[in-house]
Amino acid sequence: MARKNEDLIRSNLCGYAPTANLMLNEKIKELTASGKTVYHLAFGQSPFPITELAKCSLSQNADKTDYLPVAGIKELRKAICEFHREFDGLDVKAEDVIVGPGSKELFFLFLCVFNGDVFVLSPTWITFLPQARLAGHEPTVITTEYRHDWRVTSDNLERALNKSSAKNKVLILVNPDNPTGTVYTEDHWKELVEVLRKHNVIVLSDEIYGCLNFSGNHCSLAKFYPEGTILSSGLSKWASAGGWRLGYHIYPPMLRSLLDAVKSAASHTYSCASAPIQYAAVSYLRVNDETKAYISHLRRILAAVGSYCHHHLTEVGVKAVKPSGGFYMFPDFEVVRCALAKRGITTAQQMCDTVFEDVAVALMPGGPSFLRPVQELTVRLCFVNFDGSVALKASEACGLKKPLPDDFVEKYCELTASGIQALKNWVLCQKSSVSHT
Ligand SMILES: Cc1ncc(COP(=O)(O)O)c(C=O)c1O
Repeated sequence: MARKNEDLIRSNLCGYAPTANLMLNEKIKELTASGKTVYHLAFGQSPFPITELAKCSLSQNADKTDYLPVAGIKELRKAICEFHREFDGLDVKAEDVIVGPGSKELFFLFLCVFNGDVFVLSPTWITFLPQARLAGHEPTVITTEYRHDWRVTSDNLERALNKSSAKNKVLILVNPDNPTGTVYTEDHWKELVEVLRKHNVIVLSDEIYGCLNFSGNHCSLAKFYPEGTILSSGLSKWASAGGWRLGYHIYPPMLRSLLDAVKSAASHTYSCASAPIQYAAVSYLRVNDETKAYISHLRRILAAVGSYCHHHLTEVGVKAVKPSGGFYMFPDFEVVRCALAKRGITTAQQMCDTVFEDVAVALMPGGPSFLRPVQELTVRLCFVNFDGSVALKASEACGLKKPLPDDFVEKYCELTASGIQALKNWVLCQKSSVSHT
């Protein structure tokens, strides 16, 4: 009997598509290979090189070929604890850590074993909703707003939690945030933790951009809500090693049964994270002056680029929260709605397609991928399309004692700066097309 293709896939996964950013990235790679200049502001990969120490350490560990403990080697789990003691003031233990092939996989395994309601924010990182659905959950979406810098407030958190009768609840949030670049501070946590405690909520706190908080003062939720926070991080962002595929989760001791279930799931799926990478990561995570200086340079370069993008876009009327950490901002192009309507463009997806056609700037539309309304003209803008080796060298040459020169972004982060100028001119063009009619 002929099989219908649509019958082969679970009904709640109808229309299940590969992650939009990775697909777009493939397309752009093809275009640039064919010689076209594209301002790729749609992909959040670290532009920086890994440290020399990390390079040496990986080559020295190429002979590590054994399968390793499912949760990761003890030296690495200890190094992770030391790293978070130094950077976040946390007192965590190696037995509460699980290492995986990227933190993404660990989120997914958590969602596979977790029994309860799942809460995600809007906007949020594009992966959480599809992962939750893949694992059989239908998450509740908590909407955040521009006027609150896209942070969840205690009121809207309380309202959402009150609607759930589930015994177990998990909230997933990102700090510093992808896609908005917003950060949570001690004051925000104090307010939110009251609600989290009252409802006994587990928080999957994605702090993978924690070291890239531009102020250098990342506030880990685990410090304020240790009993309920599962801290997620890894080497993909501050350590510029996304392709190493090494991430980890740190569980509170009280959630040992959940951690054990995730370990079992790990043993039946990926077995262990890559052995050479685990050994190399031990050195990479060791906190020394080289690592600290490396992170400080990355932070200030990213802060300068984020600030440049924010300044130039808001200057022409685009609404945007100034990014405070990470690689992203989430501007709203409402200012060109009338002009776009005249061209028959009403959604963020259509707008991004048009921007790409008009000025070769690639952006990711807000809209459903980020759990935003289709008609909202928000986009996720990644400001890391530049040669990170060049920028890092220039920052090192300047030295950490002196601030970066004013022309740093235009000089050393050229593709992002040119993309922003092209986008700014595009906005001006749209605006003037309305004022001339
Ligand atoms: C918010 C967030 N969490 C997690 C990840 C992925 O982390 P990993 O490479 O550890 O799987 C990303 C990567 O884009 C991210 O933006």
